[in-house]
Amino acid sequence: MKVVRNPAELTQWAETQRSAGKRIGFVPTMGFLHEGHLSLMRLLRPQVDQLIVSIYVNPLQFGPSEDLETYPSDMDGDSRLCEQTGVDVLFAPADLYPDGFCTSVSVHTLTNGLCGASRPGHFEGVATVVARLIGLSRCHIAAFGEKDYQQLCVLRRMARDLALPVEIVGGAIVRDQDGLALSSRNTYLSAEDRVRALSLSQALRAMKKGLEAGETAVGALLATGVHVLDVDTVDYLEIVDAFTLEPVQCVTRSCRALVAAHVGGTRLIDNLALEP
Ligand code: PAJ
Repeated sequence: MKVVRNPAELTQWAETQRSAGKRIGFVPTMGFLHEGHLSLMRLLRPQVDQLIVSIYVNPLQFGPSEDLETYPSDMDGDSRLCEQTGVDVLFAPADLYPDGFCTSVSVHTLTNGLCGASRPGHFEGVATVVARLIGLSRCHIAAFGEKDYQQLCVLRRMARDLALPVEIVGGAIVRDQDGLALSSRNTYLSAEDRVRALSLSQALRAMKKGLEAGETAVGALLATGVHVLDVDTVDYLEIVDAFTLEPVQCVTRSCRALVAAHVGGTRLIDNLALEP
């Protein structure tokens, strides 16, 4: 596995690959890798000739009171996992943005609600870094997890709206056996908080059960979910249209239940598909 630190070097390597007719796959991450990240690498591995993984904790997507300074990292462990998973290039730049960088990418409407509302500027930071990473990597296909469902929707829309020459694919949420969605931030949780954190996935499952039992009214389903949550504060618990992310009254088409909440100082998110 090749480790690249310099953005220009990544592009040079990628151009050489493309000239040789190779198909390039890309999994962007912020590191501290777990099975969720690895599942995206395994998803792309058989579809591409060259697989790039990036590790970059992007300051643009963190708010002033968020965990940029303390975001967990383990470069040696990550590097080993990438190698074991068949990654060809690990791109781990110290700096990603050139001097004088002054561009940002805003995806509107889709970012009005959910995490867009509770984390102002977050998706602008995400879209901007992913646009640059896609440009640098010259990738044909890039994978993102449904764990960050709104992020996946935003990046699909960005690629479509800007006609970026890349296919965006989504990967299913990877969970621990007890249902907790894997997240690099789970490392912040104490044993007690980890138990409370389980209530996010339990709330979503309770709502899905309610739907399966015949309740389609969103108000009633949300009440079921709220009852199950055992957290310090809830940023949102919502059921929205799976494609537009707009609120719905009734689950009569493909919807998504999404939750964001704080447990012992850690912000956690989760979501689940709701089909009528
Ligand atoms: P990060 O949180 O490191 O996640 C990298 C990718 O892994 C994202 O596409 C995310 O959705 C996916 N992922 C995380 N946990 C997952 C899980 N339990 N199951 C499936 N996929 C999971 O998301 C980011 O980084 C950043 O915003 C990034 C896209 C890299 C831009 O900076």
